[in-house]
Amino acid sequence: VIKMTDLDLAGKRVLIRADLNVPVKDGKVTSDARIVATLPTIKLALEKGAKLMITSHLGRPTEGEYNEEFSLAPVVNYLKDALSCPVRLAKDYLDGVDVAAGELVVLENCRFNKGEKKNTEELAKKYAALCDIFVMDAFGTAHRAEGSTYGVAQFAPVACAGPLLAGELEALGKAMLKPERPMVAIVGGSKVSTKLTVLESLSKIADQLVVGGGIANTFIAAAGHNVGKSLCEHDLIDTAKKLAAETNIPVTTDVVVGTEFSESTPATIKSVADVTDGDMIFDIGPDSAKALADIIMNAKTILWNGPVGVFEFDQFAEGTKIIAEAIAASPAFSIAGGGDTLAAIDKFGIADKVSYISTGGGAFLEFVEGKVLPAVAMLEQRAKA
Ligand code: 3PG
Repeated sequence: VIKMTDLDLAGKRVLIRADLNVPVKDGKVTSDARIVATLPTIKLALEKGAKLMITSHLGRPTEGEYNEEFSLAPVVNYLKDALSCPVRLAKDYLDGVDVAAGELVVLENCRFNKGEKKNTEELAKKYAALCDIFVMDAFGTAHRAEGSTYGVAQFAPVACAGPLLAGELEALGKAMLKPERPMVAIVGGSKVSTKLTVLESLSKIADQLVVGGGIANTFIAAAGHNVGKSLCEHDLIDTAKKLAAETNIPVTTDVVVGTEFSESTPATIKSVADVTDGDMIFDIGPDSAKALADIIMNAKTILWNGPVGVFEFDQFAEGTKIIAEAIAASPAFSIAGGGDTLAAIDKFGIADKVSYISTGGGAFLEFVEGKVLPAVAMLEQRAKA
């Protein structure tokens, strides 16, 4: 693909599609990771003299109408503080925007526009007419073929990848396409069903596949143990058995159980063989965590998606903490992605010790599943033409 860093942007109308879809509460941004990740792209484009516009979606509003709840205004306020240039929000922009070099115009939530999700040609051409150069930098939305991610790239005079998108693709490629071995993949989260394709894909790439969280319960049941009242997908036990037979998946030997899903349920450490009908497994036990930490310490590449326990409750956070700290201490190239994973990284304060933290949730998983990200495919198509 063509890269923004290789283009002359001076005096050009440049439209960046970023993923500024951040959580907002009471008009304030509550997690700024995606904005922080996009700032270098904005600053570079400004330094290069672009007449700069940026577009993003926020949430999932009803299409075709303005809705204050989903306005990018809180993001604009954040950007005003973070940047030294003038920043303004444009509500009506589809018929053209006046933008001067050195200022940043934020185009209001693109999902307010009719045709955005369906990617109508009419809307895509309107976006394209706003700019001389379109910069796709929204890795987190690259799995969506929408007007502002895919359609505009088709019709803009020039379409290129921004530095964030390029960096994500490079880091993920390093972990998934030519990993230094041994490669360890850690997949946690609640359900096998939502991560099945991820597990199947990683089972072919990773030297060791570590499963955690509710997913591990299904594997524990597949190994013939009682999981009591734990979250477990009984209809996927055969699938888990097959994966365990084909892949190197370390077995969980001990667990931490409670009796109900609550912040105050007391935690008990048990051997997996001793779980009773009333138990709910909420974390891996200390022996299992130690064994996994050793595996992680010896890895050359680590890919992490999903906590291994209910880390939001302190009495069930230890397993995820040990894993997080092992990743932080490991000299391996490590990459992490997904909302819960980022929350765990924050909680245990290891952000600066992970080699690469992805801004993608769904997009990260689709890449790991081996799927083609449509917005990237369009950039490739444009680069060939
Ligand atoms: C995300 O948060 O994963 C992206 O911003 C995509 O949002 P969406 O799932 O609403 O398309």
